[in-house]
Amino acid sequence: MTEQGKSSNVVWHHATVTRKRREQMNKHRGAVFWFTGLSGAGKSTLAHDVEEKLYQLGHRTYVLDGDNVRHGLCADLAFSDQDRKENIRRIGQMARLYVEAGIIVLTAFISPFRSDRDNVRKICGHDFHEIYCICSLEVCESRDVKGLYKRARAGEIPDFTGISSPYEEPEAPELEIDTESHLDECSKRVFEYIAASVELR
Ligand code: ADX
Repeated sequence: MTEQGKSSNVVWHHATVTRKRREQMNKHRGAVFWFTGLSGAGKSTLAHDVEEKLYQLGHRTYVLDGDNVRHGLCADLAFSDQDRKENIRRIGQMARLYVEAGIIVLTAFISPFRSDRDNVRKICGHDFHEIYCICSLEVCESRDVKGLYKRARAGEIPDFTGISSPYEEPEAPELEIDTESHLDECSKRVFEYIAASVELR
């Protein structure tokens, strides 16, 4: 499960406040709910809406969001295949730490490459749940909340997912959500799935 990279001569420090103890206190398991889909598919909106429901019930949650993470932790990365791979690798490692902290993590990254998502699945094991936000390119483009599709079509943004860079659909996601339909319906389905997965008490 560990990646050694250039960090040799380092030894894992075991906490006395273990994941199990944290989960007992939180009254739910830690897990990662990995929303994937095109830009504008509604990943962030849905993740935040579900988080609000969980928070109001007193549960421990955190949303890791593509646009936010790229302002800090991944500010050095652009959108080449290699940079996206590194983006997802970092997020995957971070999500795993959050799970160790007993938190329900909801992530909202396009994460267009199957191999990158599968790597996070390897990092997080059974705690990883892939949620495919299904929304056609036409609908995402018509929403164009940030005006990026228009700019990508005009050739102003290179490697834009769905236009000049591919999106590889999940083959066996834990959950598929039609995010062209109403937010409340989507949110309810995701909430129910999470509640069962983390054994909310
Ligand atoms: S990912 O491919 O590495 O997973 P991530 O989710 O972090 O992408 O960031 C996607 C967000 O960055 C989009 O919602 C959009 O606002 C913005 N963005 C800027 N340039 C691009 C691009 N070339 N392709 C896709 N999204 C882009």
